[in-house]
Amino acid sequence: MTFVHLLVSLLICITFTSSISVVPDPSTQDLINRICKQTIDFKFCNKTITSQLIRRRTSIKTIAKLTAAKAWIKAIETLDNIEGSLLPNAKDGRSKAEFGACRKAYRLVDAHLDNALKYLYLKDYRFMRAYQALALVNISMCRTSFFHPTPMVYANWNMRILTDIAIYAGKILAPPPPLRTKTKKKTP
Ligand SMILES: *[C@@H]1O[C@H](CO)[C@@H](O)[C@H](O)[C@H]1NC(C)=O
Ligand SMILES: *[C@@H]1O[C@H](CO)[C@@H](O)[C@H](O)[C@H]1NC(C)=O
Repeated sequence: MTFVHLLVSLLICITFTSSISVVPDPSTQDLINRICKQTIDFKFCNKTITSQLIRRRTSIKTIAKLTAAKAWIKAIETLDNIEGSLLPNAKDGRSKAEFGACRKAYRLVDAHLDNALKYLYLKDYRFMRAYQALALVNISMCRTSFFHPTPMVYANWNMRILTDIAIYAGKILAPPPPLRTKTKKKTP
């Protein structure tokens, strides 16, 4: 299976499963709780993960895959919406500037999450998380304001929490190495 085939099958899988509702078993709900209590919106996170589940008992590996794919798809949708609708229909200069900056940001977000998925496929979870962290940096470069309410305000919030969810799931799957106490002497 090539990488592109993997992406296509993930896309099909997620599109199909989003309509079926599965109640997670206690061990799966426990994993979901561990991820979601780290996010800014537990209920949204809980609903997002649950709606992607295929089986009641789902491993952290599958949850990490599903959440990484979900963030990736959302980035594609967001960029598509900016380029196909928001930017061409922008009425005022301020909106145009905002959407232009967001397009720039989301092209990078998209590329970073592409790479994250590629490393997930290669089972290199540290690189996966590194690219997801880069995506998070670029999401914040798409500046929105609640005082200038555009569709990007919610889209950006959504993208940020979906990326967070993927990162927290990845951290449970492959915890970062513990911080080492420095033993090496500094060279003067
Ligand atoms: C999380 O979702 C599950 C399944 O939909 C639900 O049973 C549970 O009550 C939710 N937990 C919270 C705290 O909302
Ligand atoms: C995007 O993030 C990269 C780091 O990956 C940073 O160097 C760059 O300045 C950011 N650019 C924009 C436009 O957000």
